[in-house]
Amino acid sequence: MNKDVYILGIESSCDDTSASVIYNGKVLSNVVANQEIHAKYGGVVPELASRAHQQNILPVIQQAIEQASITKENLSAIAFTRGPGLMGSLLVGTSFAKSLAIGLKIPLIDVNHMQAHILAHFIKEENAKIPSFPFICLTISGGHTQIVKITDHFEMEVLGETIDDAVGEAFDKSAKILGLPYPGGPLIDKYAKLGNPKAYPFTKPKVGDLDFSFSGLKTGILYFIQKQVRINPNFIEENLRDICASIQYTITEILMDKLKNAVKQTGIKNIAIAGGVSANSEIRNRLKQAEKHFGWTTYIPKFEYTTDNAAMVAITGYLKYLNNDYSEVSITAKARLKVTD
Ligand code: KG4
Ligand code: ZN
Repeated sequence: MNKDVYILGIESSCDDTSASVIYNGKVLSNVVANQEIHAKYGGVVPELASRAHQQNILPVIQQAIEQASITKENLSAIAFTRGPGLMGSLLVGTSFAKSLAIGLKIPLIDVNHMQAHILAHFIKEENAKIPSFPFICLTISGGHTQIVKITDHFEMEVLGETIDDAVGEAFDKSAKILGLPYPGGPLIDKYAKLGNPKAYPFTKPKVGDLDFSFSGLKTGILYFIQKQVRINPNFIEENLRDICASIQYTITEILMDKLKNAVKQTGIKNIAIAGGVSANSEIRNRLKQAEKHFGWTTYIPKFEYTTDNAAMVAITGYLKYLNNDYSEVSITAKARLKVTD
């Protein structure tokens, strides 16, 4: 077993440029540069994202190394997000990681972004619970909604997933209907805190087994809002908190119903959440309550490890490093990758 393992993680799959140094599984730094530029377009513009990564990547990596109080010569390996994500964005991180690994003559480790969201739970933190196997993870982000069964760090099975929109899209598209800027998820969360979650009952989709569907909910919300605005043009501003609380409540109910089914089907009561939407306060509360109500053991990530970050990439790289699971330098980025790839 290596004594001193320092892994640099690089994340550039979407619109956050991030770098992190992890020492023997503990985070020494986790620097994230968000790209404000997309807000005015109401969503991520791929071409602008890759340009911003190109500008940010060097200073972000320099900061991560500085904050970790090490030099690049201390690094044991470079881990980077190979996919899934936007190709132009992935290429920036992939190319940088390759050059750095070649320059420093250290191993290069490719990381699957979806696995990284889940494996963020293995970051060693004071008072943090590390999941015991097997566990179920609800991965909810801007691009994905999945229920995954994890029997070992790199043994995963998808039990269910969305057949259309991801839950993050449901939040962001609902927010857009309400005239809120991108990304709207955190804003819905903020306004929902002050509203009545039962003010407007939205219909939950009927989709089989452990799969999800969110496109019907979005359309339902759109038609409801359009109808109300015809009656009262100030409907949204007068009722924003109640609308947000009702949307958030419906989405949380959908997610909790599916998790209950997953527990029933598998008998596994170790439940984790991961991905950007797991920052949502209502989802976190409901999961905490499930410990008491259903006897589940729940794993809720620290806020900074929910939305895209490089610490999750570095911990995944660390776990692969311990398995001597390195990449060839000829490896290429992949826009489409399954969590099981
Ligand atoms: O994991 P992530 O950073 O990027 C992807 O891999 O997609 O997730 C971003 C998504 C966005 O849709 C954003 O609106 C949502 O996570 N999000 C939230 C909250 N914070 C971020 N959704 C609901 N409530 C939040 N507090
Ligand atoms: Zn993500």
